[in-house]
Amino acid sequence: MITKIHLIYFSPTKTTKKIVEQIAAGINIRDIEHYDLTLMEPGLDRQFADGLAIIGIPVYAGRVPEVFLKRIEKISAVGIPAVLVALYGNRAFEDALVELRDVVVSKGFVVIAAGAFIGEHSYSTSQQPIAANRPDAADLQKAKEFGINIAKELQENIGKSVVEIPGNVPYKERVPLGGIAPETNRELCTLCGTCAKVCPTFVIRVDSEVKTNAENCIMCCACVKYCPENARELKHPMIEARREMLVKNCSIRKVPNDFL
Ligand SMILES: Cc1cc2nc3c(=O)[nH]c(=O)nc-3n(C[C@H](O)[C@H](O)[C@H](O)COP(=O)(O)O)c2cc1C
Ligand code: SF4
Ligand code: SF4
Repeated sequence: MITKIHLIYFSPTKTTKKIVEQIAAGINIRDIEHYDLTLMEPGLDRQFADGLAIIGIPVYAGRVPEVFLKRIEKISAVGIPAVLVALYGNRAFEDALVELRDVVVSKGFVVIAAGAFIGEHSYSTSQQPIAANRPDAADLQKAKEFGINIAKELQENIGKSVVEIPGNVPYKERVPLGGIAPETNRELCTLCGTCAKVCPTFVIRVDSEVKTNAENCIMCCACVKYCPENARELKHPMIEARREMLVKNCSIRKVPNDFL
């Protein structure tokens, strides 16, 4: 019998985190441990020998973020079941779930279920919303129901591995990140330091001004979304164009899919 859930996730703007937590609530096992790979907290070097893992990532350009691949390197398992979550911004999840499956299987987990859920797009703004405020109540309900179904499956069919996950191998070509970062509006900035604290790649330094090393920025927009003064903005022309495309082509609500 499974008595423990390990939540393993990378989630700069916390939409992935919300969904993995809600799936766990549906499974209804109270003993839950978090392995948040977003800010590289200590204790992330582990081999899991029991329990169930729920492993979640945001989709970046149809793939698993490279930074997650690096951070999961020191995690492994000895055949414990895993549920996979790909969180995407209402465009598409493409090859992210199959890539996540392959990584997780190579680490010794047995994939028993997978889901693709929708969260507010990193590039969404109040003027140009893309899946704004998602996951919403309907998404969270769906995640909880998914958890309830996983719990049933675990009772009836322990160890069954899921096979039908959509996506292609070889995966689509990776779009390299780096070189573009949000900018700071000095008129609004109070130098509070929040942006530096939430940045998953630690590229922001705040002293007499906010300095961002764009080379290692992954454009996750955590600094934009958590700045209390709305002083950070991702307004590079390439991103402006992408945002316009997303508003134009990806505004029709997509719904979560689960594979069990
Ligand atoms: C660099 C980058 C690439 C992205 N690529 C995609 C994509 O291919 N498809 C999509 O629907 N959303 C895409 N998104 C949006 C994220 O998947 C979405 O905002 C997700 O909710 C973020 O998860 P988090 O809140 O856990 O950080 C991308 C976001 C970033 C920053
Ligand atoms: S979070 Fe916003 S206000 Fe605070 S230092 Fe960063 S940019 Fe300035
Ligand atoms: S500087 Fe880049 S990597 Fe850091 S929080 Fe902002 S968008 Fe994300």
